[in-house]
Amino acid sequence: MKALQLAEPKAWRQIDIPHPEKPGPGEALVRVHRVGICGTDISGYLGKMPFFSYPRIPGHELGVEVVEVGAGVTNVKAGDRCSVEPYINDPESYASRHGRPNCCEKLQVLGVHRDGGMRPFFTLPARKLHVSKKLAFDQLALVETLAIGCHATNRSQVAEGEYCLIIGAGPIGLATLEFVKLTGAKIIMLDMNDTRLKFCREVMGVQHTVKPSDKLEQDLRDLTEGHLPEVVIDATGNNASMSAAFGYVAPGGRLVYVGITTDEVNFRHPIFHRPEGTLLCSRNALPADFTRIIGLIEEGQINTQPWITHRASFDNLIEIFPSYTRPETGVIKAVVEVGE
Ligand SMILES: NC(=O)c1ccc[n+]([C@@H]2O[C@H](COP(=O)([O-])OP(=O)(O)OC[C@H]3O[C@@H](n4cnc5c(N)ncnc54)[C@H](O)[C@@H]3O)[C@@H](O)[C@H]2O)c1
Ligand SMILES: [Zn+2]
Repeated sequence: MKALQLAEPKAWRQIDIPHPEKPGPGEALVRVHRVGICGTDISGYLGKMPFFSYPRIPGHELGVEVVEVGAGVTNVKAGDRCSVEPYINDPESYASRHGRPNCCEKLQVLGVHRDGGMRPFFTLPARKLHVSKKLAFDQLALVETLAIGCHATNRSQVAEGEYCLIIGAGPIGLATLEFVKLTGAKIIMLDMNDTRLKFCREVMGVQHTVKPSDKLEQDLRDLTEGHLPEVVIDATGNNASMSAAFGYVAPGGRLVYVGITTDEVNFRHPIFHRPEGTLLCSRNALPADFTRIIGLIEEGQINTQPWITHRASFDNLIEIFPSYTRPETGVIKAVVEVGE
C-alpha cells in the first residue's frame, strides 16, 4: 500500500509499504479516513521542529475506522469510528502512574517520534482510540487539535466571570477559545494578524480583539475594569510575546504557555512578583479530554463547521502542501482524505 513520507525537510515522497500484520494483544488495526494538518506537520516539513526525526510518515490528527482488534481489546470493535489520542506513553513511567500520560518521559507522538497516519492502514494500542457513534471522520480528525485547547483551558482553571486574554489566534489559540467560551469567562483575543482577528469576531463570536501596540497594557486595563485579565494564555510560540505576557496578568492571576518556543524567554521578575503570578505550561492533552470533546461535538456545544478551510486528497497533498506554509492562503485547518 502507498504512504506519504517526509524523507527529510521539504522532501515529501510517496512510498510503498507492506500492509500491517494482524493486531497483537491490546492492539487495533485501523483504516485511516482523515488526517488533519497542523503547525507541527508544517514545522516538520520546514525542518523547524526539534523533536521531528526523518524519514517520518506524519499524521497525528486522525479520524479512523477499526478494522480488527487483537486479544484482550474491549474498548473498541471492528467498524467503530474513532478519534486517535496520538500520545503513545509508557504506562509504567512516573508521569503515567501520576495521571500525566501527556508528559510521559518516554512519550512518542504518532507522526512526530514514530510513524503516523498518512497511510491507509496501521496498528496502534487500542487504548488510544476514542469512539463516537455519531461523528463524521472529518470531525474525529479535529478532536486532537481541540484537545490541546481543552487541556490549556483546564490548566488555567479559568472561571465564569473572569477575564481571559488569549494571545495568538492560530488553530491552537482558536481551540483554546472554544473551551474558554464554555466556562463563561470574558474573552479578549490578541494577535497582529487582522484577518485572524476578524475571523474571531465574525465567525467565533468574540467581542473584544486587540493588537500589539505601545498602549496595549492600557487597552487591556480598559477592557478589564482596570485590573488586567485574571488569566492569560499564550498560544503564539513567539518568545517576545511570551515575555511580554508576564506584564498582562491581574493580581493573583495565571499565565499559561500552550505555545512552544525553543528560544529563551526572559522577563523582569518584579513584573510577575508584583501580582504574585503563577506560570503554567500545557503539553498535549489527557485521555479524558478526548472523551469530553467527542461528547461536546455530539451535543452541538462545539460547532466544527468553521474549522476545515482546506482539503487535499492523498494524491495531491505533495503538490498542495507547500501552500499551507503561507499564511496568506488563510488556512486554519486542512484535512487530507486518505485513499488506498
Ligand atoms: N501545547 C501543546 O501541546 C501544543 C500542541 C500543538 C501546537 N502547539 C504550539 O502552539 C503554538 C501555536 O500553534 P498554531 O498552529 O496556532 O500557530 P500559528 O502560527 O498558526 O498561530 C500563532 C498566532 O500567533 C500570532 N502571533 C505571533 N507572534 C505574536 C505576537 N508577538 N503578538 C501577538 N500575536 C502573535 C500569529 O500572528 C498567529 O496568528 C505553536 O508554538 C505550536 O508549536 C502546542
Ligand atoms: Zn496537531
